Amino acid sequence: MFQFQLSVSPEIILTEIQDSDKAAIIDGLQEKEIYRQTFSIPYPYGDAEADWFLARMREKRSSETKPTTLAIRLAKTNKLIGVFGFHDFEPSGHKAEIGYWLGKEHWGSGILTKVTGKAVEYAFSELGVTRIFAKVFSRNKASIRVLQKVGFQHEGLLRNDSMKDGELLDVDLFGLLKNEYRAMGSELVMINGLDNIYYFVTDVKKSAEFYRDVLGLKILDQDDYWATVDLHGVRLGLHKASTTEFSKSAERRSGATVTMNVSEIDKAYDFYKSRGVKFLGPVSKNSWGSHVSFTDPDGNLLDLREAPKK
Ligand SMILES: CC(C)(COP(=O)(O)OP(=O)(O)OC[C@H]1O[C@@H](n2cnc3c(N)ncnc32)[C@H](O)[C@@H]1OP(=O)(O)O)[C@@H](O)C(=O)NCCC(=O)NCCS
Repeated sequence: MFQFQLSVSPEIILTEIQDSDKAAIIDGLQEKEIYRQTFSIPYPYGDAEADWFLARMREKRSSETKPTTLAIRLAKTNKLIGVFGFHDFEPSGHKAEIGYWLGKEHWGSGILTKVTGKAVEYAFSELGVTRIFAKVFSRNKASIRVLQKVGFQHEGLLRNDSMKDGELLDVDLFGLLKNEYRAMGSELVMINGLDNIYYFVTDVKKSAEFYRDVLGLKILDQDDYWATVDLHGVRLGLHKASTTEFSKSAERRSGATVTMNVSEIDKAYDFYKSRGVKFLGPVSKNSWGSHVSFTDPDGNLLDLREAPKK
C-alpha cells in the first residue's frame, strides 16, 4: 500500500504522502494554533490549499528516490495525523531544515519527539545530510522542548526575524550534527567486570531490533535462538528462553547488569526516551555519580551511568 514506510513505534509509522490524505490534512489544519506556530502553513486551510500541497508532493515524489516529506500515521488505521518535512532539501546538499505539525488531539503524547528522533536518523543515514536545523518561534515552547529532547543544540536567537499577522517575532535556531547525534549514545559498557553476558528473551528477532534500532548498537550475529549484540566491544548474548526457563525470573540473566557509561546523563536520558526507551524512574543523582535504569522488551535490566565530574 505504501512505497515507503518507517516504523516509529508500534502505534506510529512514517510513509510518503498520498492524494487520499487530502481530507485528513484539511481536518488537521483547521486548528489555528498550528498556523500561529508555523512559518508557512496557510489559514484558513481548505480545498485549494490542500490541492496545492498535494500537487507539490506529487512533483517531489517524481524527482526523489527517497521521500523528504513524510506523513505521520496511526499504524492501526493508516490515518494521517501530521506531517514531518525536510525543507529545501537538495540531494547534493549536506544539510536540511525540518518542519512539522501534529493534529491537536495527539499533542503532549510524546509522538513528535519519537517521530523527530526517527526522522533525523533516517536523514543522517539515508538522505546523506550531516546537519539538520530547525527554526522555531521563541513562543513555541512545545516544539523547542521536542528539539531539546532529541538532542538539538541551541545555536542562536534571531531577534525580530519573522513577521506574523503584523507582529515581529523572535526565532530560535536549533541544529544537530550527525557526529554529535551518534556521540550521544553510550560510549562504553561495563558489565560488572565480566566480558560477556547473556539475557534470556522470548523473541530473538524482536529483541535484537530493540538493541539495534532503539539503543543504536550493532548486532554481530543472529539466528532464531541467539543474537550477539556488540556493546562497544563487550558481547551481550540474547538467548531464546524456553517458557519454563523464562518464567523463573532468577534465571533470566546471568547474574550481572549491563551498565552503559555516558558523559551527560540528562541528555542521554532524553535521547533514549525519544527513541521509545521506558525508564523505571527518574535519573538518580548523588556524590558517586548518577544513574537511571530501564529494561529491554523482556524486562532485562540495563543502566545508564554518568561518573562524577572531577
Ligand atoms: C510542536 C508539536 C509538534 C509537539 O508535538 P507533541 O507530540 O505534543 O510533542 P511531545 O509530546 O513529543 O513533546 C512536547 C513537549 O513539550 C512540552 N510542552 C508542551 N507545552 C509546553 C509549554 N507551553 N511550555 C513548556 N513545555 C511545553 C511537553 O511537556 C513535552 O515535554 P516533556 O516530554 O518534557 O514533558 C505540536 O504541539 C504541534 O503540532 N504544534 C503546532 C505546530 C508546530 O508548532 N509545529 C512546529 C513548528 S517549529
